[in-house]
Amino acid sequence: MQEIHHPVAKIFPTIDLGDFVLREKQESDVETFFGYYSDPQVNEFILCEIPKTIEEAKRELLYWRGIFYQNDGVYFAIADKKSGEMVGSIGITGHNPYQSRIELSYDLSAPYWRRGIMTSAIMAVVKYAFVEWKVNRIEAVASIFNIPSKNLLLKSGFTLEGVLRQHRYHRGRFVDVYSFSLLREEFPVI
Ligand SMILES: CC(C)(COP(=O)(O)OP(=O)(O)OC[C@H]1O[C@@H](n2cnc3c(N)ncnc32)[C@H](O)[C@@H]1OP(=O)(O)O)[C@@H](O)C(=O)NCCC(=O)NCCS
Repeated sequence: MQEIHHPVAKIFPTIDLGDFVLREKQESDVETFFGYYSDPQVNEFILCEIPKTIEEAKRELLYWRGIFYQNDGVYFAIADKKSGEMVGSIGITGHNPYQSRIELSYDLSAPYWRRGIMTSAIMAVVKYAFVEWKVNRIEAVASIFNIPSKNLLLKSGFTLEGVLRQHRYHRGRFVDVYSFSLLREEFPVI
């Protein structure tokens, strides 16, 4: 029988990435979050509703922060260590303890793109998910038009499994997504 694992620690984790840190989101991050997340370059392929007001952004931020306290996953702010400013998010959500899997997702403010930040954040979160949540499989989906995200996941060691047809409802239509996964047995540190 498969052992079912729920992490027990209820102190929000912090992960050091060098110049950046993965930390808990704060209410004081809302304006920065709303600012970068409203950028059409950033949200073009984000397959969720984008907040239209600062109040909606606050609800969104608090919702994603709260999933940690409900044992559903962890959604970190990616913050610049020097300024403390939030520049992105990365998280694992939808923990399925019976099937031992969880889903990875992320976003980053456009001026910070292409500096290797998300590669290093993914490496840290993947390790955290395998070690602390003891999952067997980490999943990710990306719009078939999201070439940066596809390349990022491939570079991070994920396997492209195929296309999930019309898997997500996005901006008035059903869109195809790529399905990716990384298995525990494929991750070298474990
Ligand atoms: C996708 C995203 C998170 C990448 O973050 P990033 O920190 O810029 O990524 P990295 O610098 O770590 O790049 C890692 C690899 O991803 C790929 N990549 C990143 N940006 C790319 C781009 N614009 N075009 C093509 N490939 C890209 C490359 O393979 C890159 O490796 P390389 O620089 O050695 O060629 C960022 O572009 C983003 O936030 N996009 C908008 C939000 C989004 O799409 N979220 C995902 C929803 S599924």
